[in-house]
Amino acid sequence: EEIEKGGYDHFMLKEIYEQPQAIKDTFRGRMLPDQGIIKMAGIDEHMNKFLNAKRIIIVACGTSWHAGLVAEYIIEELARVPVEVEYASEFRYRNPIIDKDDILIAISQSGETADTMAAIKLAKENGAFVFGVCNVVGSSISREAHAGAYTHAGPEIGVASTKAFTTQITVLTLIALQLAKKKGAISRSKFHEYLVELDSIPNKVKKALESNDLIEQIAHVYKDAKNCLYLGRGFNFPVALEGALKLKEISYIHAEGYPAAEMKHGPIALIDEQMPVVVIATRKGHYEKVVSNIQEIKSREGKIIGIVTEGDVDVRDLADHVIEVPDTLECLTPLLTTIPLQLLSYHIAIALDRNVDQPRNLAKSVTVE
Ligand code: AGP
Repeated sequence: EEIEKGGYDHFMLKEIYEQPQAIKDTFRGRMLPDQGIIKMAGIDEHMNKFLNAKRIIIVACGTSWHAGLVAEYIIEELARVPVEVEYASEFRYRNPIIDKDDILIAISQSGETADTMAAIKLAKENGAFVFGVCNVVGSSISREAHAGAYTHAGPEIGVASTKAFTTQITVLTLIALQLAKKKGAISRSKFHEYLVELDSIPNKVKKALESNDLIEQIAHVYKDAKNCLYLGRGFNFPVALEGALKLKEISYIHAEGYPAAEMKHGPIALIDEQMPVVVIATRKGHYEKVVSNIQEIKSREGKIIGIVTEGDVDVRDLADHVIEVPDTLECLTPLLTTIPLQLLSYHIAIALDRNVDQPRNLAKSVTVE
């Protein structure tokens, strides 16, 4: 096992650090920025189905569901196809409306999650086309789907999902771009800009990982917190949910993710000097609005950890701590902002002496209902 950890103390940390390579592996051979094209057999062979689809339904659980929420924003933004995202466990039991022109995208790292599998079967019974996004090659879900795309993240051993999440977003972004191009919803130059920027993401993730020592120090300040709030807007709202899930899973600290603007509809009542609030406040993405949310937290004496774009000054003035990530296109920010949140939960859990790779009560894949 020590050899498999490759010198890291835990699988989770190894997998966090593998993300630059995992993302590269996920778009290798599929994205050719020089030629300005994307080639994805699973999508290209079924493009007519995608072009004729009235809507896309995404089903998944846990972290994969969060990747689905990011995908909803990206697909709707780029390809202008309506997307709904459902917990597989709700979808399968609630008698949903499924049309034969619907496409169901099932996202699952393991490809074995029972609820996601049941949602696929239900969709197939109702004539929908099912597309799987899995990491484990040959897994049950990848076999059950009509078509699919693997994430190529390599084995993920830590129970807390990390590189599966960023590679799921990568695959789903490629799908959104390809669909947008074939639909004529995106200009040639915008498409090209996205490819070039996606290509630079692995190096930017590497850069984001350089904040590890700073994040470890911040973790020591907040390790005894009883609650923690994560806020983000737009593409970074699902990242806030994911950051909160990571903290809950491995540190056992109660955490909630919220859209930043929803804070005033309830959670703001929780804020006092005991409450750490992690706010994703990147430059592109309703920045001024998020800054005003930060002011509201500050005036209630909440402790602010800002995830900001390199060179930010406004949030730095207000926050107790800032963690920088490189600049990128708004749609792609989740691939970077999620990195410090993974490291923050890791270091808090380590400081509390938790079993990071195998947290209590959790299994890597949930094959029971
Ligand atoms: C993530 O950190 C969790 N351990 C969990 O939420 C997981 O994402 C969920 O069980 C779905 O698993 P899957 O992607 O293998 O279907």
